[in-house]
Amino acid sequence: MSTGPNIGYRNGSGDEEVRQSTHVPALAPACSVVREPYSRVVNMVQVRQAYASIAELYVELFGTSQQVHADDLAFIGRHLAGRPGAVLDLGCGPGHITDYLRRLGVNATGIDIVPEFIAHAQAAHPSGSYQIGSMKDLAVANHSIAGILAWGSLIHSPPQDLDGVLAEFRRVVAPAGTLVLGIFVGDEVAAFDHKVVTAYRWPVEEFSERLARAGFTEVERLQRPSEGTQRPHAAVAAIATDG
Ligand SMILES: C[S@@+](CC[C@H](N)C(=O)[O-])C[C@H]1O[C@@H](n2cnc3c(N)ncnc32)[C@H](O)[C@@H]1O
Repeated sequence: MSTGPNIGYRNGSGDEEVRQSTHVPALAPACSVVREPYSRVVNMVQVRQAYASIAELYVELFGTSQQVHADDLAFIGRHLAGRPGAVLDLGCGPGHITDYLRRLGVNATGIDIVPEFIAHAQAAHPSGSYQIGSMKDLAVANHSIAGILAWGSLIHSPPQDLDGVLAEFRRVVAPAGTLVLGIFVGDEVAAFDHKVVTAYRWPVEEFSERLARAGFTEVERLQRPSEGTQRPHAAVAAIATDG
């Protein structure tokens, strides 16, 4: 089954997250005002429970690469395929994009905090590599990873937590490695009632500044306005700078 790097919780079950998240740190200075009350900020355990409770429906609605916009698939493939090294699909959900990458010849491993998603991914793609784990605390050596995909998986990270997650990404990615992510877009940083659990929208420019502060230089951006029930969306590709 698993041929990728050995990845899991470095610090045990993830219960540490509950304790960390009850303490609400100040917003980072460069962050715009988040209008929603802090009481709506969710921690990792709540995110895991929310997705676990609708995992079957999520798989049905979004669980194949045919359900991903063709432009997004092309963007992901363009930036993460065709070069050597391990790629992590962090917050892989049902694992369909990990599988898409593997079909492009990428040594991709899908990681998610929701065991139901990982069980589905392993059953649907038995030759794939999937592990339960948190992108906030990867059991991966420094600078050992060629690329990261975080497709829709940073949307639940409260703005004050984002720099820490991006620092973890930068820790594991090799210099000149690639980060590709998909986010929801808005005029200001704001929480909203995502169907699963509270999520955040970002001005792309502000997100890109966060990436730069974490050591990633944006190289391509793909923006799509609202279409039907789809929210405004952006895909961003960035390269890890030296150091
Ligand atoms: C909107 S879904 C996207 C799933 C998949 N990437 C896709 O495109 O369908 C967000 C995913 O991020 C995962 N996630 C959220 N926080 C996470 C964390 N700290 N570590 C790993 N996965 C996380 C959730 O469990 C969920 O599967």
